[in-house]
Amino acid sequence: MSRPKLLVTHLLFPEAREILESLGDIDYWREPDAIPRDEFLKRIAGKDGLVCLLTEKVNEETLAAAPQLRIAATVSVGYDNIDVPACTRHYVVATNTPGVLDDTTADFAFTLMLAVARRLVEADKWLRSGNWSGWQFDQFISTDVWGKTLGIIGFGRIGRDVARRAQGFRMRVIYYNRNRVAPELERELNAEYVPLDRLFAESDFVSLHVPLTPETRHLINADTLKKMKRTAFLINTSRGPVVDEAALAAALKAGTIAGAALDVYEREPLVNPDLIPLQNVVLAPHLGSSSLETRTKMAVLAAKNVAAFFAGRQPPNALNPEVLARGSEDVAR
Ligand code: NAP
Ligand code: GLV
Repeated sequence: MSRPKLLVTHLLFPEAREILESLGDIDYWREPDAIPRDEFLKRIAGKDGLVCLLTEKVNEETLAAAPQLRIAATVSVGYDNIDVPACTRHYVVATNTPGVLDDTTADFAFTLMLAVARRLVEADKWLRSGNWSGWQFDQFISTDVWGKTLGIIGFGRIGRDVARRAQGFRMRVIYYNRNRVAPELERELNAEYVPLDRLFAESDFVSLHVPLTPETRHLINADTLKKMKRTAFLINTSRGPVVDEAALAAALKAGTIAGAALDVYEREPLVNPDLIPLQNVVLAPHLGSSSLETRTKMAVLAAKNVAAFFAGRQPPNALNPEVLARGSEDVAR
């Protein structure tokens, strides 16, 4: 087989570029902003492989524009940007980057929890504006995180790492997941499985760690927000559409819940304008996994998935490995 032609929609990091450049001929999108859709569709034509970010949609339109494509590797663990069944229909292997970003994303969920409960962002802005005239006993009175009840929705890799951190904060951990986890793991993480309604009713902090699927879209909505305590905080590092942003803004304004801290949004990079003026919400621009160490690991893992594929091996993170079962002639075409 001649050297594969790859589209890589970001320069990523040298460690990943080295792997990719030893593999094939690379067409890089070199701008920091996401590649525009029309440019993406133009450049994907004639490519054998794709390394993309969560900003690129790999759907029927993409696959129709790229009949030669054999592998699509997203540099993210969430793969709601990839229509996996469509990839399977087109015999394209899809891969993601699970496992290397769990601790970093769990750290960020805690960063958000602490920032909103302890009012750090609000206080920082206030101080920079020259308002501080001296220590006051009741300045920026906030809410403790330690010792409170943390409700984790989605108890997979990241949700469990959030639970591990909660032990250090002496929190009570309750969780809801599609499938209850093994009793040994519940014991290890000191986590109690509860039905969703009970989680909403008892949690001081609700932290979301589910993937975006038709079942989880708007899992947090006007009705579920009303089930939460008026003193509770919502933390979202999962995907924006898991939360009905308009309903959340209304709940924050009305005092239905005490606050929220968000890393992800329904229509990124747009943020519901009703959230912007609110003091009881912390807003981050989708930074969950954004440490240098972790983003490097993610980029390298995506590159390794592509390398394995073109070496005729199963990529370690194939989402539709059934495509590979078609036979080596398809893999090494
Ligand atoms: P994971 O290990 O697959 O965990 C997801 C968990 O959600 C699984 O335990 C799964 O249950 C559960 N789940 C799925 N659908 C559910 C439903 N309808 N109701 C209840 N639970 C459900 O994934 P992960 O690696 O922890 O990542 C989770 C998500 O975080 C990713 O999909 C991504 O969207 C997001 N993320 C965001 C950032 C960021 O930068 N903000 C960074 C990394 C990840 P089962 O065990 O039953 O399958
Ligand atoms: C980031 O949001 C990811 O899914 O990796």
